[in-house]
Amino acid sequence: MPSPWAFLPASIEAEQSNPSRPLGKSGEWAKYFASLSGNPRIQLPQGARTAITAASAVAASAARRTWRAFTRSHCGIEQLASVLSELTSGIDGLPDFHDVFAAHVIVLGVDGLSTGIYALDPATFSLVLVRAGDFTEQTCKLLRGLLAPKSAAFTLVLSADMAALPDVYHGQLGIREMYVHSGFATQKAIEASTVLGLGTLPTPAIPDTMTAELLGIDGVRQNPVYSLTVGTTDPVGAGAGQ
Ligand SMILES: Cc1cc2nc3c(=O)[nH]c(=O)nc-3n(C[C@H](O)[C@H](O)[C@H](O)COP(=O)(O)O)c2cc1C
Repeated sequence: MPSPWAFLPASIEAEQSNPSRPLGKSGEWAKYFASLSGNPRIQLPQGARTAITAASAVAASAARRTWRAFTRSHCGIEQLASVLSELTSGIDGLPDFHDVFAAHVIVLGVDGLSTGIYALDPATFSLVLVRAGDFTEQTCKLLRGLLAPKSAAFTLVLSADMAALPDVYHGQLGIREMYVHSGFATQKAIEASTVLGLGTLPTPAIPDTMTAELLGIDGVRQNPVYSLTVGTTDPVGAGAGQ
């Protein structure tokens, strides 16, 4: 059976086989955020994390359905902050979220935020503007033609630092562990959204190149792996589970 590394881009594989290259978090995201240092940033409310208990998470998981359409009402910036806080918080037995992932937010309808694409800066829990504008149509394309972004509040995209995987996950199964980790982290964001009364549409089925171009990441070492579209929902349930 071929090594899992056989599926990594050639440039990364070559670097992994060079023993003189010091391992460690590869610094991809530090470089990326340095490149955005002159951009406008919005401080997210601190301490907005939803108090998700084990019981509320179980209840949220049981109640949760995938939503294909939302109400078009905006969500609040506090709700977005809570979801991001939960997304990026620690998971027992796994590396820190930010040792591997960066989170982008495509803002479609959030009170207190202009539409556009933002990157979550973990150092300050602030959103750094990557591109201003309405990216609803492009977000529908990212989701392979799903129309949910037209009525959603925001789409989150998780991207992985592929060069960091062997060090962060300590082994050849690192690439698999990264995908599993992205699912765990997104599940927490789904549960937080559900506890907050928001609906979610998860899908990792997003095209690498188009997504990377939209987010302004390189798409190879910085690789988009998962998306979560979140919106306000109709209490009578129209739009869920369709
Ligand atoms: C890992 C994962 C991948 C998914 N990928 C897609 C997808 O590519 N396209 C899509 O329309 N929905 C996708 N979804 C949403 C599922 O289709 C949806 O969860 C499924 O219909 C089950 O419905 P439920 O979430 O209401 O239980 C995905 C969900 C998960 C958890």
